[in-house]
Amino acid sequence: MTTHHRIPRRRVLQGLAGAAALGALPRFAHAQAGPFRIGLILPMTGPFASTGKQVSAACRLYMQRAGDAIAGRKVELILKDDTGLAPETTKRIAQEMLVQDKVNVLAGFGLTPLALATAPVATEAKVPMIVMCAATAIIPQRSPFIVRSGFTLPQVTGPIADWAAKNRIRRVFTMVTDYGPGLDAEKTFHARFRAAGGEIAEAVRTPLRNPDYGPFLQRAKDAKPDALFVFVPSGEGLAVMKQFDERGLKQAGIRLIGTGDVTDDDLLESMGPPAVGVITSFHYSAAHESPENRAYVESFMKANNGMRPNFHSVGGYDGMHLIYEAAKKAGPGASGEQLVEAMKGMRWTSPRGPMTIDPQARDVVQTVYLREVKMANGKPWNVEFDKFENVKPVEG
Ligand code: PHB
Repeated sequence: MTTHHRIPRRRVLQGLAGAAALGALPRFAHAQAGPFRIGLILPMTGPFASTGKQVSAACRLYMQRAGDAIAGRKVELILKDDTGLAPETTKRIAQEMLVQDKVNVLAGFGLTPLALATAPVATEAKVPMIVMCAATAIIPQRSPFIVRSGFTLPQVTGPIADWAAKNRIRRVFTMVTDYGPGLDAEKTFHARFRAAGGEIAEAVRTPLRNPDYGPFLQRAKDAKPDALFVFVPSGEGLAVMKQFDERGLKQAGIRLIGTGDVTDDDLLESMGPPAVGVITSFHYSAAHESPENRAYVESFMKANNGMRPNFHSVGGYDGMHLIYEAAKKAGPGASGEQLVEAMKGMRWTSPRGPMTIDPQARDVVQTVYLREVKMANGKPWNVEFDKFENVKPVEG
């Protein structure tokens, strides 16, 4: 008699409710053989839309090259726009992607506040969260499920402070955007430059929303420093360069130095000749000389109407590599914990150069380059002239 063994429907439903309350249901769903889903959250509109455009293009390019299946399981990329300036929106989209789309991995995060707001969601759902862009040092400490594929500000700031001190720059005026990455850059630059005998003339912080750089740059000019150090997030460099040029800082003998965010490859062609001579330290230049990068730049530009890939794009490209390789190693049906474990210690050659995921910090160890903007074939490029290998996420 089959009915004798049937479990009453009510007991089944109670059991499922219990499992859901314990958080077992989402993992049960992930173990199913459906597609392996990557939930990509990026600013596709608003002042930081260039970040979304660059990163989504890079993720698509990765899938085109690596294929849309891992160990026979289809990979699906689900892209949603968080507009860039609303952390609560990013968090809500992440929750929706987990519940409705049953994503196996969360990825993207164009700015620090957006990554910080979403960290508790990744922890609760036990799903890897790949931070491709946001670069404040503290981010991976906010969840054991965060792994970063981009860079950190302390990592890329140290080398330019050392370079300045060694190149007859004695007094520097610093200007940073007033939030996580800017404060990291300011702190690192001040400490390193002072340790090398330099003097900080003055330090100003500009607002993240609707900044007007003109008055700050006038103050910088009036302070008569040897150089102006700048950190602004990707998307803002052109406005800084225009004001620097119009207010005649270069003519007044003030050099522009910074992290490579200010000579962002996405905007460098629009900046044109005024950018020539700017010295920055950074982890990626579209002009990086390597077979991997030449192939990357060529296929990226071909697939995107001639758009030059920037540093955020490689954060996206390498983030996809991390996800694919972890899913191959642990199996695409692996739990979030197993995927994060598989990412720890991973090492590969990116278009930017060699990189490793530090297993303790879940953060990038990579080469940082010194670069100078030079014209080649009528266009400005960040030309590398020195490098520092295996730079840790928290030291420059
Ligand atoms: C950040 O918000 O962490 C961020 C955004 C853009 C950058 C660097 C850092 O270029």
